[in-house]
Amino acid sequence: MIEYNNKYNNYVNLIEEKLKVYSNEIFGDLSEVGQAARYSLFSGGKRIRGVLTVAVSDLLDGDLDTALAFACSIEMLHCYSLIHDDLPAMDNSDMRRGKASCHVKYGQAVALLAGDALLTGAFEQLTKCAGQSQVSDAVICLSKSAGCKGMIYGQELDIAFEGKTPSESDLVSIHSNKTGQLIIAASMLGAIAANANTSQKEFISSYSEKIGMVFQIIDDILDITSTDIELGKPSGNDAALMKTTFATLNGIDYAKQRATKLTDEAINTIDEFGDKSEFLKTLAKIMLDRKN
Ligand code: IPE
Ligand code: IPE
Ligand code: MG
Ligand code: MG
Ligand code: MG
Repeated sequence: MIEYNNKYNNYVNLIEEKLKVYSNEIFGDLSEVGQAARYSLFSGGKRIRGVLTVAVSDLLDGDLDTALAFACSIEMLHCYSLIHDDLPAMDNSDMRRGKASCHVKYGQAVALLAGDALLTGAFEQLTKCAGQSQVSDAVICLSKSAGCKGMIYGQELDIAFEGKTPSESDLVSIHSNKTGQLIIAASMLGAIAANANTSQKEFISSYSEKIGMVFQIIDDILDITSTDIELGKPSGNDAALMKTTFATLNGIDYAKQRATKLTDEAINTIDEFGDKSEFLKTLAKIMLDRKN
């Protein structure tokens, strides 16, 4: 576990370092929108998606600079999704990462634009440190995952089902789109950075599809069982917005069982890669047991 923690922290430090350099280039600090984008980007996320990108690339012997550039891109895009998710028109959440949400600090108009800047910036970011065919594959991967048949669709469904009772398959669709798609994209960007072959991509995609679902199931449980301070965001927000989640549909125990089964499956999926897959296996277990 010490080894895992060291490796995770090392990945995070590398990502933070690059993110600072790239975000200076892309957002600057001349405009308030740029400042707001950087305020949210550097307010202390876990960087799970960026770590996934670099860890998958490492697993497949990819180039570190390419992987880090892609990791920064997915963290920018994820950060945009959080800023917009917190807006009053969506989840109306006033705390994020233990600080005032972007719109609380800067106002809704600037927050909306900061989200736009991070989304646009994420694609500029993909062009740094990668060959042309990798950039092209990465743009296709990220735009599809984040777009209207991916994360945005999940967010649309999530809002549309407020106050209604989605079936289990509706919930799977909401979760796999709003959260799963970006987690798959994070891993696939790592695979692209490593010029992975089709079979390697299939294993990685299947692993990340499963941990993506686990990630949102646990997020739903923590919304009930945890506190604002532990989470760095308001707990109880799902109930306040009358969202049915995996934790409320069939209860917390059932949700945890489902997440545990998916975690085991995810771990088995990457057995294929032998000892080198140990970090990603532990990461899957940590996602299941995480407290924030
Ligand atoms: C929060 O994601 C949004 C969900 C998809 C549940 P994270 O829990 O990864 O947020 P940060 O980046 O660590 O703040
Ligand atoms: C967020 O899901 C998913 C995206 C931002 C795309 P949630 O609304 O459950 O995330 P939190 O709980 O606000 O972090
Ligand atoms: Mg939401
Ligand atoms: Mg939310
Ligand atoms: Mg949530």
